[in-house]
Amino acid sequence: MRLDRFTPRATLLDWLRLDEGSTGTKEGCAEGDCGACAVVVARERDGRLVYEPVNSCITLIGQVDGAEVITVEDLADNGVLHPVQQAMALRHGSQCGFCTPGIVMSLFAYYQQCAGAPSREDINDALAGNLCRCTGYKPIVEAGLEACSTGADDSFRRRAPERLKALQSLDDGADLFVGNEAAFFAAPASEHSLASLYARHPDATVIAGATDVGLWITKKLLPIEKIIHVGRVAGLSAIEETAQELAIGATVSLSRAVPVLGSIDSDVAEVLRRFGSIQVRACGTVGGSIANGSPIGDLAPMLIALGASIELRHGDSVRRLPLEDFFLEYGKQDRREGEYVRRLHVPKLAASTHFRSYKISKRIDEDISTVLAAFCLKIADGRVGDATVAFGGMAGIPKRAKSVEAALRGVSLRDARQWRAAVEAVGKDFTPLSDLRGSAAYRSRVAANLVAKAIAEMAGVSSSLTRIAERRVVVDVSA
Ligand SMILES: Cc1cc2nc3c(=O)[nH]c(=O)nc-3n(C[C@H](O)[C@H](O)[C@H](O)COP(=O)(O)OP(=O)(O)OC[C@H]3O[C@@H](n4cnc5c(N)ncnc54)[C@H](O)[C@@H]3O)c2cc1C
Ligand code: FES
Ligand code: FES
Repeated sequence: MRLDRFTPRATLLDWLRLDEGSTGTKEGCAEGDCGACAVVVARERDGRLVYEPVNSCITLIGQVDGAEVITVEDLADNGVLHPVQQAMALRHGSQCGFCTPGIVMSLFAYYQQCAGAPSREDINDALAGNLCRCTGYKPIVEAGLEACSTGADDSFRRRAPERLKALQSLDDGADLFVGNEAAFFAAPASEHSLASLYARHPDATVIAGATDVGLWITKKLLPIEKIIHVGRVAGLSAIEETAQELAIGATVSLSRAVPVLGSIDSDVAEVLRRFGSIQVRACGTVGGSIANGSPIGDLAPMLIALGASIELRHGDSVRRLPLEDFFLEYGKQDRREGEYVRRLHVPKLAASTHFRSYKISKRIDEDISTVLAAFCLKIADGRVGDATVAFGGMAGIPKRAKSVEAALRGVSLRDARQWRAAVEAVGKDFTPLSDLRGSAAYRSRVAANLVAKAIAEMAGVSSSLTRIAERRVVVDVSA
């Protein structure tokens, strides 16, 4: 379908329900949390079809240019329910049915990528962004396990070659501009087009995944008129790897970033597994989660602890600065009008350097951090050499804990008495705020405990019960 005119800030959900009349897709929260509005977007990536569930309530219609949008109405094949729908019905996975289309679409996306029998955890992860208020999750998870274990070809897999071809034919590599100079949705195809368009319209709102900006539209009701979507810009979605570092383009989605950044350290992978939900990670980008300047974002503290730097471009000029210097104060970043985030450079861990990070939130899944701590410690002969420590949720910006770092240097992992100064130094570094997620006192206590936890884990004295991911000992002081 070709759309030549639409309101720049129109959401995919509104378009589906109000324009197309596809009312199977529901609106629950309108802020990306409940999954009632989940639809599946299929795109070509590296020559094959990739299916991802997205929350249509915070996806703008222009963002799906060149993609196939699959809704719950599309699943049945000549009146025969899709295996996921059949399993949901036979397993009694639905009561009032309001959440059901979204749950079916998340399971459908998982069905397409699942090779072999999934585990209960796999299905739980696939459904982390879908809430059900009445059925209870057991029959839903069992329906997912049953449907996704069959591995049978559905009509989508059978028609994959022709659909792939159709998608490839849509990829014209041209700039997209719908609207006029006063109100538009633009998706430049090259950095040159992006830089000149943004320099001409520095008042435009840049979107990448729109998992933040979508809420400005649906919740704050901001009358955003000019939108520049960076998701089509060639080169900004590249991931480059050298022996020393990873260079991650600003529009790389968090789903794509998980295995890459997770290869630096398994704690990065574990925190990112808990970043929002599959729907949020499918859209949300590495660049967006840094450019938003959030003091409670998960990525920034981890990247700061790893020593990352950020590359920005304005017109033809490109500059690079340490990521920690990008965050100036609450709501203020070192980014001038018309300048955009180009990529992040993330060093790999040097020899004898150990990383730990912990996300503390009220729920395991689909929750924003109350506190996030990230530690990068160089350890030789059981003693901390250099230390970089950063926290989220403890100040108006993601910030290094320089007193903690100083107190850690020289500390012996074998002598727990030496750890105390580092634990207490949290109080010198931060005066956190109280909010709905946690009081200032709670945050300070948690942050101090996390310093102790990181050292204790490296020293091998903590219990495996304190770990969600695997336990890793650097120096086993009990040996
Ligand atoms: C339900 C839900 C759960 C979430 N859970 C988490 C979570 O667990 N952890 C977490 O950290 N965050 C979470 N978030 C927040 C959000 O998903 C992330 O911050 C995300 O990474 C933002 O990326 P985006 O591409 O969607 O940004 P967008 O919404 O597109 O943009 C965010 C901001 O960055 C700017 N921007 C984007 N790209 C660029 C660029 N290249 N150059 C300049 N400016 C740019 C935009 O103008 C805007 O100001 C959640 C959000 C939702 C809705
Ligand atoms: S309506 Fe709740 S995630 Fe979209
Ligand atoms: S069946 Fe009612 S909300 Fe899930």
